[in-house]
Amino acid sequence: MEQQLKKLMAEAEEALARAEDLDELNGIRVRFLGKNGLLTGVLRGMSKLSAEERPRVGRLANEIREKIEDTLARRAAEIKEKVKTARLEAEKIDVTLPGTPFLTGSKHPLTAIQEEIEDIFLGMGYSIEEGPEIELDYYNFEALNLPKDHPARDMQDSFFVGPEMLLRTHTSPVQVRTMERTVPALPVRVIAPGRVYRRDDDATHSPMFNQVEGFAIDKRVTLGDLKGTLQVFAEKMFGRQTRTRFRPSYFPFTEPSAEMDISCGMCGGKGCRVCSYTGWLEILGCGMIHPRVLEVSGYDPEEVTGFAFGMGVERIAMLKYDINDMRVLFDNDLRFLKQF
Ligand code: DAH
Repeated sequence: MEQQLKKLMAEAEEALARAEDLDELNGIRVRFLGKNGLLTGVLRGMSKLSAEERPRVGRLANEIREKIEDTLARRAAEIKEKVKTARLEAEKIDVTLPGTPFLTGSKHPLTAIQEEIEDIFLGMGYSIEEGPEIELDYYNFEALNLPKDHPARDMQDSFFVGPEMLLRTHTSPVQVRTMERTVPALPVRVIAPGRVYRRDDDATHSPMFNQVEGFAIDKRVTLGDLKGTLQVFAEKMFGRQTRTRFRPSYFPFTEPSAEMDISCGMCGGKGCRVCSYTGWLEILGCGMIHPRVLEVSGYDPEEVTGFAFGMGVERIAMLKYDINDMRVLFDNDLRFLKQF
């Protein structure tokens, strides 16, 4: 029996030495010292012992129980300590480390340019209007003096979404929508930024792009007012040294119509690759609002005149930042966007 007890002791010590957590220790306690544990099991055989042996074996059994309990307590303390150290180690913070950098965004170049254009015209007393991107044929074409089957519709290859509805091909319909609302009030000075859609797709054309429309109506608005206004715009946008020129052109909703060029900022007008050696860059279409457009909007063309212009925001961004492929403006590659 003493042999058995000593073997039990050795087994318990070995198990305790190997135990890695408190659950395991508890299992060992139950297995060896529990009510139905191994030690009790051995002691059940005590009755078979002689009277001299019994106290000796009893003492040994007690010693063994105490020893196991001591070891259990020591191992429990060790394991708790180990867990605590591991936790402290895991939670350690080095307050001297640099912080996690916080990425700050920046405005997309198109947004920045659009806001710059808006600011320039807000400063000249214009207000901002918006119109729908899905537009009626009436506002996009007909009210702008572009009747059905008019050849000038070919200049704006369109996405129709219904027989009388399309994705607007320009921001000019906002002219008519605004005038219908303001008539007969004068003066009206409005810019209308927004997305427009055409069936074009190459390095300098995207099926979706942005325009800013502008127009002013009042009694006795002249072509001189148009030129002066756009000269101020060009100087504020591209620098004081910028010169402008107006070339005759054709738009059904203006008469007369013109295209405005600015002197090339790259070569100062001497001629270079950017301006195709002309010294000039085309930036917008403009003209005096056609009497018919005033009339369908409710204004009397005998009383009122106006000028209008429309520019492409992408084109201005490309000129200003020297970008030669429009598509980078829509790729949303951060390596590109971060440069602004
Ligand atoms: N809507 C024209 C286009 O998208 C641009 C334009 C030209 C607008 C002349 C105007 C204008 O207001 O007067 O091609």
